[in-house]
Amino acid sequence: MLRDNGFVPSVRHLYVHVPFCAHRCGYCDFVTVTGRHAQHAPYVEALLGELALRRAAGVVDDGPETVFVGGGTPTLLEPSLLARLLDGLPAATDELTVECNPETVTPALAELLAVRGARVSLGAQSFAPELLATLERRARPETVRAAVATLRAAGVANLSLDLIYGVPGETAAMLERDLDTLVELAPEHVSAYELEAKPGTRFSVHHGAALRTQAELLEDHYERVVARLEAAGYRWYETASFARDGHEGRHNRGYWTGRDYLGIGVGAVSTLGLVRRTNGPRLAGYLEAHARDELPPARDEALTLTVRVQERVMLGLRLADGVEEAAVEAVLDEEGLVRMGAIGLLERHDGRLVLTRRGRLVANDVVARLIRDED
Ligand SMILES: C[S@@+](CC[C@H](N)C(=O)[O-])C[C@H]1O[C@@H](n2cnc3c(N)ncnc32)[C@H](O)[C@@H]1O
Ligand code: SF4
Repeated sequence: MLRDNGFVPSVRHLYVHVPFCAHRCGYCDFVTVTGRHAQHAPYVEALLGELALRRAAGVVDDGPETVFVGGGTPTLLEPSLLARLLDGLPAATDELTVECNPETVTPALAELLAVRGARVSLGAQSFAPELLATLERRARPETVRAAVATLRAAGVANLSLDLIYGVPGETAAMLERDLDTLVELAPEHVSAYELEAKPGTRFSVHHGAALRTQAELLEDHYERVVARLEAAGYRWYETASFARDGHEGRHNRGYWTGRDYLGIGVGAVSTLGLVRRTNGPRLAGYLEAHARDELPPARDEALTLTVRVQERVMLGLRLADGVEEAAVEAVLDEEGLVRMGAIGLLERHDGRLVLTRRGRLVANDVVARLIRDED
């Protein structure tokens, strides 16, 4: 059911964006700001203000299934401020995730996250000093290890580590060593991302030639990641995600299965019925709107049902259990479907379309063939 403003009555997934970072990593194009310590506290109040306005409009109720506090670096907030934020958010019935940078982990922070039962998503990225330096990371390999130990000592029971592969200068042997270390640290969940370097960014200009060499290795790197993590007992349940039994990320699953979600904070995106809302990226504009007790500046994009169903194919096929065919058949290209099946990239199981293992390694290409061109 849609309301007049295009919003569904309430959403089950809440994303909260904290843009602050100590330093901007060269490859990152998320909405972030460095410095601005004086604005940390006002920003937390503005987030809670935006949430109150959204709640008053009935967009989010008291018990979302998942809450994901991401960034930026949420853990750059002073522990008391992070606690104020977490305690001001509606309690998640299923999962609270907080993104965390290794160099910010202290016993006090770990304790704060552990008592709230948070799942912690820690940005390790690599354990090779030279790759961390290329990525312009503040953390050293020992910082990442120490952060894991501190989080575990405090009782964090659900830990996800992020890894980036395809970094300029990374050989297959270096990736194998990163994977060994990752497995040795025994997180419940791993997200392994191929490095994306946007053309024209400082990073891609600086590392252009090396990035081109890496591009040739990427498929091999991806296969290595999958093989090593599966051998260690992780289930490859989504394109870039691997989990021990019972530890799949529930927030992202909501997104991949095409559910609505509300995002609050600068630059945050919401998908609510047939509206995609993107909050403005400027911190000053966000704080000023809060001071006026108004919703932050945002851009609304009207979506068609067709677009939402197409997105459901693109996102759903990222999952090992695929997508329900009946829910998406209106946008499928019958010829593409037959062709992808014939060359062993796609299968049908119990009314679901599922990529084969080989299909999953080239998922973007397969999906492009499956969606019918709009007339
Ligand atoms: C937006 S970051 C926030 C997490 C945290 N600030 C950190 O740096 O660890 C979330 C994750 O996205 C991934 N990421 C960010 N930029 C990326 C890029 N250009 N290519 C691949 N992965 C990227 C990293 O693995 C990172 O841990
Ligand atoms: S710390 Fe994380 S969010 Fe901040 S710039 Fe680096 S990768 Fe991006």
